[in-house]
Amino acid sequence: MTSPEAREKAVTDAVAYRRELVNEAIVEQLPVEHPERLYEASRYLLDAGGKRLRPAMVLLVGEALSDVVPRSVDYRAFPALDGDDIDLMAAAVSIEVIQTFTLIHDDIMDDDDLRRGVPSVHREFDLSTAILAGDTLYSSAFEIMLRAGATPDRALSAMDVLATTCTEICEGQALDVEFENRPDVTTEEYLEMVRKKTAVLYAAAAVIPAHLLGADDEVAEALYGYGIDVGQAFQIQDDVLDLTVPSEVLGKQRGSDLVENKRTIITVHARQQGIDVDGLIGTDDVDAVTEAEIDAAVDRLHEAGSIEYASQHARELTERGKERLSVLPDNESRTRLEQLADYLIERGY
Ligand code: IPE
Ligand code: IPE
Ligand code: MG
Ligand code: MG
Ligand code: MG
Repeated sequence: MTSPEAREKAVTDAVAYRRELVNEAIVEQLPVEHPERLYEASRYLLDAGGKRLRPAMVLLVGEALSDVVPRSVDYRAFPALDGDDIDLMAAAVSIEVIQTFTLIHDDIMDDDDLRRGVPSVHREFDLSTAILAGDTLYSSAFEIMLRAGATPDRALSAMDVLATTCTEICEGQALDVEFENRPDVTTEEYLEMVRKKTAVLYAAAAVIPAHLLGADDEVAEALYGYGIDVGQAFQIQDDVLDLTVPSEVLGKQRGSDLVENKRTIITVHARQQGIDVDGLIGTDDVDAVTEAEIDAAVDRLHEAGSIEYASQHARELTERGKERLSVLPDNESRTRLEQLADYLIERGY
């Protein structure tokens, strides 16, 4: 049996190795062009950091499917299941570019000043530039996905997933905003909102390599389900971290969800226990909230069992997601995907 520490180190090392390669590929796939301010704003958050969990998932799924030995493979000439080569790294970059587009627009909607440890794009540049930078990344992601060079039928399937994913993210984000004015949101409604705003991008990261490499429908369906389950669990952990982790560690403002009256699985549960969740923080200005106020709110949510309830729910989703991986060949990358699922809910930032 591997210890939890050894398991976490194995997966964080695996992500770190792939993150370096993804970072090099981003610079090549998204050069700064004219007008420079637009491209600088588009690259700004990509260059600021980010955990690169989704592109790491793309690469790990590809490795598991093609049963290659990690670190011996060139992701730019990656063996498909029938012997053709594709540029899997282009697919990984495309998914990260979509992720970054959603963050830029999310910070505008959530009125957040800090992202990846730096001022959010609309604060560092301006609102118009941030909207355009997000749009530029959004459309560039499709061009980059095409550079994977898969056969036309496989490329079409990947593009179809990517387009549907983006539509669903918009639907999820619209629900997220709508729910701010709806105190009576249920756990089921929350989970559906989170499936759309967050989990579908993990599902795309898991299923797109299956399409590009020519895996069969049963495998693709299982991988999509894995992404949905672990992606929902990931968002629940994001909601927990928003309350519990200092802004310096998180790279974004702690307590933002309470200030904005976001419905999370935590506040939905707390409300069912009779807590006035919108009264937990007395300001709607994220700059005015104090650490003491957030601490007091978190204490109440702990007392109500709401944070533990959320974590338990995330654990159940994670286990379900991991079970779906049994369709993959039993190799090192499949083990990493199981560990990645655990890491998504055990991570501290
Ligand atoms: C943040 O995702 C957006 C959510 C869906 C909660 P990450 O926590 O993966 O952010 P980065 O990419 O590492 O910055
Ligand atoms: C983000 O949800 C979902 C996206 C599609 C970006 P959050 O609003 O909770 O993400 P953070 O906490 O700002 O990263
Ligand atoms: Mg946000
Ligand atoms: Mg948001
Ligand atoms: Mg959040």
